[in-house]
Amino acid sequence: MSMHRDDFDRCRYPATIELALLFDWYDLARQQAIAADVPLLELDWLVLQLTSLDRLALRLRSTQGSMISACIPLSEFEQRWQQRCCDRVPVQYLAGFTTWRSLELRVTPDVLIPRPETEAIIDLVIEAAGDQLDGHWVDLGTGSGAIAIGLAGELKARQAIATVHASDTSVAALAIARQNAADCGICDRLHFHHGSWFEPFHDSDIRFRALISNPPYIPAATVDQLAPEVRDREPRLALDGGETGFDCLSILIDQAPNWLEHDGIWIVEHEASQGRELRDRLCQRGYREVRTVRDLAGLDRFAIARSPL
Ligand SMILES: C[S@@+](CC[C@H](N)C(=O)[O-])C[C@H]1O[C@@H](n2cnc3c(N)ncnc32)[C@H](O)[C@@H]1O
Repeated sequence: MSMHRDDFDRCRYPATIELALLFDWYDLARQQAIAADVPLLELDWLVLQLTSLDRLALRLRSTQGSMISACIPLSEFEQRWQQRCCDRVPVQYLAGFTTWRSLELRVTPDVLIPRPETEAIIDLVIEAAGDQLDGHWVDLGTGSGAIAIGLAGELKARQAIATVHASDTSVAALAIARQNAADCGICDRLHFHHGSWFEPFHDSDIRFRALISNPPYIPAATVDQLAPEVRDREPRLALDGGETGFDCLSILIDQAPNWLEHDGIWIVEHEASQGRELRDRLCQRGYREVRTVRDLAGLDRFAIARSPL
């Protein structure tokens, strides 16, 4: 049964706010943002995402219509913006969602906020697979489910007979990932597993067409120096790659050959400084066609290889 547009709007925007009051608060919020060194774009993003206001009306301070529909009342905007400026809570957690590729994904402090630079990993692995898209694929350390859901969507669009498996050691993250998969209408092609890296598959003889992962890769001491929005608000489990940053990367390099199909693809996101060492380690372990792909900022970002023979 399809929802009438008015019903949809009432669901998404249960509150109404007087525009003149919203703009009074918005001006104050801008000053708070400047004082707290918070990008003004984040304020606009929050207002545009949580109200039915459009960008032009916001820019022109148009009070035409005098009232606006909103997801939350004005008092809640005030509280959430305080949390952004004073408690350094990322704006995506305040909104409760983020956009990633063409997806709208729920995010809570139990999951890393998926980053724009990670988006390319889906196109890279699909390109590497060529026309060999059928079979089992795995996203290890799925967090919000972003990679697994994005990949399942791309495989479906290409009519591949494929199943995407996604695992995480965090039960709370998996609950968010499952919700995201349901919201995106892609549950039928996705299987979620709880456990550490390959552990959930130990009792199976499954072999993967491709392994994709954005594991924790930041050296522990560097995590402590990150911006408070990341260091204090995002899950440490999602960031901390141990003393050198290679704890999880090493497990993925060492164990993946036992789980990849012949000619299977191994692709992992990493920190810019880790490219050379990752290539060396992959070659030592016998992987083939080892290469690094840079991100849009020109930084080494992804290591990609074929399974050892
Ligand atoms: C950098 S986050 C990536 C999340 C998501 N894939 C993304 O790109 O936004 C790393 C993820 O690895 C998970 N993780 C950490 N240790 C793990 C382990 N031993 N086994 C499986 N997942 C793990 C974390 O819970 C977190 O969700």
